[in-house]
Amino acid sequence: MDIQTAARAEINNKIFDVVRIREDFPILKKKVHGKNLVYLDNAATTQKPIYVIDKISEYYTTMNSNIHRGVHALSGVATEAYESARIGIKYFINALGKNEIIFTRGTTEAINLVAQSYGRTNFNEGDEVIISHMEHHSNIVPWQLICAEKKAKLRIIPINDNGELIYEEFEKLVNEKTKIISVVYVSNSLGTINPVKKIINYAHQFKIPVMIDAAQAVNHLEVDVQELDCDFLAFSGHKLYGPTGIGVLYGKIDLLEAMPPYMGGGDMISKVTFEKTTYNELPHKFEAGTPDIAGAIGLGTAVEYVKNIGINNIRKHESELLEYATEKVSEIPGLRIIGNAKDKTSVLSFVLENIHPHDIGTFLDFEGVAIRTGHHCTQPLMDRFKIPATSRASFGMYNTKEEIDVLVKGLKKTIGVFGK
Ligand SMILES: Cc1ncc(COP(=O)(O)O)c(C=O)c1O
Repeated sequence: MDIQTAARAEINNKIFDVVRIREDFPILKKKVHGKNLVYLDNAATTQKPIYVIDKISEYYTTMNSNIHRGVHALSGVATEAYESARIGIKYFINALGKNEIIFTRGTTEAINLVAQSYGRTNFNEGDEVIISHMEHHSNIVPWQLICAEKKAKLRIIPINDNGELIYEEFEKLVNEKTKIISVVYVSNSLGTINPVKKIINYAHQFKIPVMIDAAQAVNHLEVDVQELDCDFLAFSGHKLYGPTGIGVLYGKIDLLEAMPPYMGGGDMISKVTFEKTTYNELPHKFEAGTPDIAGAIGLGTAVEYVKNIGINNIRKHESELLEYATEKVSEIPGLRIIGNAKDKTSVLSFVLENIHPHDIGTFLDFEGVAIRTGHHCTQPLMDRFKIPATSRASFGMYNTKEEIDVLVKGLKKTIGVFGK
């Protein structure tokens, strides 16, 4: 980060100045259908600050080269930048060592990696995997695939009508057949923050490993893997103001050491003969092939940016937005919020009487407001609430109360048109 950037970040850290922060995100100046863009789809992906965009461009203009294997200067520079990003991420989530940080394409790939590598080695017929009723499909299907192969079973932690895990039911599900517990830290559809620390503590009494899907957590909460004592944790760069196509799997070193590779190819080997192949040390054992070098470096910059703004400053700002938005939309007749957990991040999911979410989303788009409508890759959760879909507004560090006013005005207009 250059001096100017650092100085700006320093200022941001002292006073959270949303107007100033917005200047860092060029896309926020965009007009959509002639209206100012009001971007409220942050749970799907966040926008990127100029520093991340510039870093990716800088990589391709000044460093582009393949990493690890080259002896020439550019390869050295690219390797250094890629590995520095890994170190930045290690500090960001407070991992014990940089070898516990595996670059993946995102949360989805990270969960598949654990399901296939850990699951294939450790699951047997009749074993059980515990997940919750509010999981993203990314934390359901990978486990279903390995369970089908191993004749193991998925067990589901139920949730209440507010969209909170029923913790007592979780304890009842744990038994000697439980091989792993994989739960979402923050629900993408409801915003619910789950008591993952409590779940981990309980599971560890029985030496059961716990995987945390932190895709919606790292951008809102301080995540400290040592403090949580989780065994695996996954997140995606693009929800953390970083690039798409890059993410992270954190794993405790002894677990990762014991796991076989997930994919075979270049860079993950130590020696290959036709008779036998030995594998590279961590983290490279799990990074087969040429990775998304620019993506990893861009994610390193995103993490630095978020750290400089301060995750607690972001959380405070987003909580104020959520409170304001909840109050405002609650005044709209016929609107029902889905997800009323006591502990929530800035996700506002709702349904409007007699208006399909897709109509709401399409109408709002013409007002310049981007929200997400659909099942949000949580179909079992939609079934739990007996709805096919919701409309979801999700707030990031750059959103404002004025933007929420535009959303509310747009919703009232939508009701005027469709709700008759
Ligand atoms: C809670 C949760 N888990 C997993 C994912 C999957 O992330 P990705 O598509 O970046 O791999 C998402 C994405 O929306 C998510 O919200």
